[in-house]
Amino acid sequence: MVRRATDARSSTGAWYTPDHLVDLLVAASLDGIRAPAPTIRVIDPACGDGRLLSAVISTLKAQGVEVEAVGCEIDPTTARATRSQLDGSATIIEGDALEYPWERSSFDLVIANPPFSSPLSRRGPSAVTAPGSPYADLATRFWDLALSLAKTDGGRVALILPQSILSSRDAEHVRRNTEAVCRLLWSWWSETPVFDAQVTVCAMVLERSGNPVPIDWTGIVTDRLGLPAVPEVLSVDGSIGQRARIRANFRDEYYGLAGSVVDSGSGPPLVTSGLIDPGVCLWGRRPTRFAKQRFEAPRVDMDVLSDRFRRWAESTLIPKVLVATQTRVLEAVSDPDGSWVPAVPVVRLEPHAEVRPAEIAAVLTSPIASRLMWAQAAGTGLSPKSLRVGVRGLADLPWPAGNLDDAVSALALGDINACGRLVHRAFGIAEDGPLSTWWERQLPRREE
Ligand SMILES: C[S@@+](CC[C@H](N)C(=O)[O-])C[C@H]1O[C@@H](n2cnc3c(N)ncnc32)[C@H](O)[C@@H]1O
Repeated sequence: MVRRATDARSSTGAWYTPDHLVDLLVAASLDGIRAPAPTIRVIDPACGDGRLLSAVISTLKAQGVEVEAVGCEIDPTTARATRSQLDGSATIIEGDALEYPWERSSFDLVIANPPFSSPLSRRGPSAVTAPGSPYADLATRFWDLALSLAKTDGGRVALILPQSILSSRDAEHVRRNTEAVCRLLWSWWSETPVFDAQVTVCAMVLERSGNPVPIDWTGIVTDRLGLPAVPEVLSVDGSIGQRARIRANFRDEYYGLAGSVVDSGSGPPLVTSGLIDPGVCLWGRRPTRFAKQRFEAPRVDMDVLSDRFRRWAESTLIPKVLVATQTRVLEAVSDPDGSWVPAVPVVRLEPHAEVRPAEIAAVLTSPIASRLMWAQAAGTGLSPKSLRVGVRGLADLPWPAGNLDDAVSALALGDINACGRLVHRAFGIAEDGPLSTWWERQLPRREE
């Protein structure tokens, strides 16, 4: 195996595939593959030390199948070492696979663990981004390339990719292109990062086919998490985004607030994610941490804030709903009097005049809202077991067509389960069933 310095690795995305994943991916890629006479043509366009290629070659040779293997590697030293290591069993091209003049649709199997880093951080000609996707990840461009290299009649594409690619907006075009020409044969994902790169990854094997089958992308992760199906028909009246302005706080606000939080005085309470449970704010009842310090009942000392952050903090003191981030289900609480300052990271929804904060909190305190959020965001959280709650995801959540008064009353009484059922009633979907059971199991345990 070719050893590489760690800092050089991050610039070329050279995080090599662990052996167990090489075995899994190669077995899935070759399972039932049609062997066109007289040889199978295989390529790894980001071949590194050639471990995927050599596993494919040895598996096929053991089955008596002839292989014509091609690898491409941008790093000249690695390319040369791999060429000599594979000893003539593969053609190793030294260069940038994204620039190379490949013959399209010419491989039976395209297999790769491509680099994941953003092309914006790279130098050289291939640092140009894909059309319409200024932040497209490098992995997305390799996915595009892989699709174009696979034969149109049964060619396979086997890729290891960051899980975020299953739901990120930047990769939408490549997911669409894939669905138009492929069916998904196999997928795998891991709850924990399998590389030093600290990215949670998934792997999939696709087959180019004249009869593509729609692919549930986020289902690749969510199915294994045991998430229940989303009801097919919901009775909907627009979206949450049409009823509230939704804002997230950023790093600036974090640093702006950092020196001004105290456990005394009469400033407005600071509400962190950890203090938000479904339908309830635990400020003053549960200690919390902010800016690496522990507080029993944190308040913002407005007099200590700079003018800019004082204006910002004051602007948050309006009726709103606060939503915790990195949770297993949505956890939202309403602040009808506008008394709290949201900490970072907490997302806030400021309802339009005709909507009560409690209605928004009720809609978010439902199995269906959490499940839909999972469908959008699976794979983008820090761990695939947590949900990353973002502005866009919340804005896209549907608003029920039915009346919410009963759900609001249930939430006011602290009956979270009843609120969830009554929101389902407003959506015209089953009040009990696998979705509710799943959600109730994920709810944080209530503190007395
Ligand atoms: C994540 S490693 C995977 C290597 C190996 N296939 C494996 O599975 O362990 C990605 C490799 O792609 C190479 N690479 C990065 N950008 C490339 C490009 N534009 N063209 C060809 N190779 C590239 C890196 O140098 C690195 O060796």
